[in-house]
Amino acid sequence: MSHLKIVLLANLKTNAPHRPREPKDRWSELDSERTVEAIASALREGGHEVTFLEGDKKLYNELERGRFDMAFNICEGHQGDARESQVPAILEMLGIPYTGSKVLCLALTLDKPMTKRILTFHGLPTPRFQLFESPYEVVDSSLRYPLFVKPSREGTGMGISRDSIVHDEEGLRNQVRWVIETYQEPALVEEYVEGREITVGLLGNERLHIFPPLEVDFSPCPPEEQRIYTSRIKSKLYHSPRYLCPAPLTDPQTEEVGQLAVAAFRALKCLDMARVDFRLDAHDSEKPYILEINPLPGLCPGVSDLVMQAEADGMSHAQLINAILNETLKRYPELLRKAQEAPSLETVKVVKSISVNIR
Ligand SMILES: Nc1ncnc2c1ncn2[C@@H]1O[C@H](COP(=O)(O)OP(=O)(O)OP(=O)(O)O)[C@@H](O)[C@H]1O
Ligand SMILES: [Mg+2]
Repeated sequence: MSHLKIVLLANLKTNAPHRPREPKDRWSELDSERTVEAIASALREGGHEVTFLEGDKKLYNELERGRFDMAFNICEGHQGDARESQVPAILEMLGIPYTGSKVLCLALTLDKPMTKRILTFHGLPTPRFQLFESPYEVVDSSLRYPLFVKPSREGTGMGISRDSIVHDEEGLRNQVRWVIETYQEPALVEEYVEGREITVGLLGNERLHIFPPLEVDFSPCPPEEQRIYTSRIKSKLYHSPRYLCPAPLTDPQTEEVGQLAVAAFRALKCLDMARVDFRLDAHDSEKPYILEINPLPGLCPGVSDLVMQAEADGMSHAQLINAILNETLKRYPELLRKAQEAPSLETVKVVKSISVNIR
């Protein structure tokens, strides 16, 4: 029996390099052992040999010694403006194929203002914004309050709470100062889009599969966690919102957010998978605005948005992981041939998906 020798690369929360005075959500983006174990077992179910390695400074030498066929990469990185692109850059240096988007895409999409400039160039709707390198910059008077203040290159709701919504210049400057001092990076200030929260998952490349959109309904959440997808909801209170998948949108709305997600995927040159986050403007006939695109969406079984979207389409976590792998393999015909000699996932018992409303 032939199989691929796959190295699974991630940054585990338990291995985070803690530093004095770091914000309490500093490492929320990193993965849990549960996610890594689930991905490893999905790949093994697909017939492959899997080794996990932490994506840290020791990685280069470990990869050289390992003689792997390819990598399944979900590394978020620990530091640096383009931290998500560091491990892919090492993999390219060593000539090891890897799943998902490449260096340029990962660096760009981590930077939300850069992403928004590219979306705007392509005529795609994203809230109007200003970038603050310091809290003292002149405020663009064409921006309309309420405004929304967030770190320019974080994920998993880091730095996002109800304090992110500001109603006047004093509130704006205070929140901008807090973001810059806490996260040591520029603050992104956007027009606040009041309305429904929708996220669209994509799988594929030339042909893209659009998963059913997911709506996150915050009405069952505690009062301080209403209206926005905060850091606390994403990392601690994930049972508290209602997750509706497929989102109760009209057919034209579903079509529109799907096509916008595809356009964003193409504009940023994503590969294999991504999740595009939207708000629908309640004050403008639910016009969709793209907040950001995540080329490394969370893959935690039963919890991550993309996993719920796949489940709503009848695809289990294990099938999703192997489908991502298959998309990558299409770029590497020799590896694809080798992989096809492994027993296919269909011949392996796959645990039936759980209801998408249960996290
Ligand atoms: N301009 C905005 N208007 C309204 N709400 C916003 C805006 N920007 C962000 N939000 C709220 O904050 C949440 C997180 O924002 P965003 O998706 O930019 O951050 P993130 O931390 O990168 O998220 P992810 O976990 O998807 O990586 C959004 O899902 C939304 O609820
Ligand atoms: Mg988001």
